Amino acid sequence: MSNAARLTVELAERSYDIVVGPGLLEHAGGELAAVLRRGDLVIVTDTNLEKTGHLRRLEASLDAASLRHRRVVLPPGEASKSMAQLDKLLDSLLESGVERSTTIAAFGGGVIGDLAGFCAAVLLRGVDYVQIPTSLLAQVDSAVGGKTGINARHGKNLIGAFHQPKLVISDTDVLRTLPPRELRAGYAEVVKYGLIDRPDFFAWLEQNGQALLAGDAAAQQHAIVTSCAAKAEIVAADERETDRRALLNLGHTFAHAYEAIIGYGDTLLHGEAVALGMVQAFELSARLGLCPAADAVRVREHLAAAGLPTDPRAVAPGRFDAERMLNAMSRDKKVASGRRRFVLAYGIGKAFLTDDVSEAVLRRLLDEGAG
Ligand SMILES: NC(=O)c1ccc[n+]([C@@H]2O[C@H](COP(=O)([O-])OP(=O)(O)OC[C@H]3O[C@@H](n4cnc5c(N)ncnc54)[C@H](O)[C@@H]3O)[C@@H](O)[C@H]2O)c1
Repeated sequence: MSNAARLTVELAERSYDIVVGPGLLEHAGGELAAVLRRGDLVIVTDTNLEKTGHLRRLEASLDAASLRHRRVVLPPGEASKSMAQLDKLLDSLLESGVERSTTIAAFGGGVIGDLAGFCAAVLLRGVDYVQIPTSLLAQVDSAVGGKTGINARHGKNLIGAFHQPKLVISDTDVLRTLPPRELRAGYAEVVKYGLIDRPDFFAWLEQNGQALLAGDAAAQQHAIVTSCAAKAEIVAADERETDRRALLNLGHTFAHAYEAIIGYGDTLLHGEAVALGMVQAFELSARLGLCPAADAVRVREHLAAAGLPTDPRAVAPGRFDAERMLNAMSRDKKVASGRRRFVLAYGIGKAFLTDDVSEAVLRRLLDEGAG
């Protein structure tokens, strides 16, 4: 535990800690015992996590702390963020005699975190839950901030609730089994924090990003802690995204449109779409004369060096024309009273929100990205 870092998301009576470091699953029982109500713990996870040794390590630690627990194992992948899986999960929990004092532990990537968190928000009008994220994306983003939800027929994350966890435990050791492509996708969200308001962190990533991606645990821990601190600060200032929290959507207006057009799955992972979107957001900012062109180049070059896609034409030639993109963007739930809202930047670390973007410049940029 001595190598673990701890920070707090400051939300008055809903405040909670995030613990980050190596070997934390071995100590999870003790950490959880401190925040759990008297009762049992239900671990919600997926079959990929079951195959790794991580689930057994977690359960052994719960046994050592004399915590009662059971597990529900779901299929992996975005398709599990569905009404059908939520229904099954709720059914199995209610059948096994869940109580208000039961705590749900989301043990997996963002899919498990979003689904299990939403399940906790609606089960018996709300039970406690904890996040034990296992993907880099979940450790730096989705496990923190209390956004939970599932996908609807009409789009992604359209059914959900704000429900803050009681604790977040991010063991960096679990990242060793994460497929490299998933690690890179999570890295895009790490870069995002540097681009929003931490230019020094972006410069640090330019120096240390390769080591992080190669598995350097100290670099990973530093990046996760910095990312969580950045997100925690924004969430504490604007928990329900009335204003500042929307900065976390840097690149996402484009990203959601790419994902909606191409479909959610292996062709384009969420983090990869965010990388493409951040490149476009900086390119758009540069063309509008808001941001130095050199900064847009730096962003593109760093993401490319991390092995992330930076050119939509290379992902799906001909699919992302302006007409389709604008159509998909206007269906995004981030659209405010019919106007598309963008996160643009005056430079690296200087992101801001605007709905004032020249349609002509935007169309030209999008059409170039169609190939
Ligand atoms: N709630 C939020 O604030 C928020 C923020 C960003 C993204 N999200 C959501 O997060 C989801 C994406 O999350 P994700 O990228 O973690 O995807 P994911 O949950 O699908 O995980 C990616 C893959 O890696 C596997 N995996 C996870 N950890 C592993 C490990 N340690 N070892 C081996 N395999 C492992 C999973 O089984 C899955 O196949 C999306 O649904 C997105 O909408 C939510």
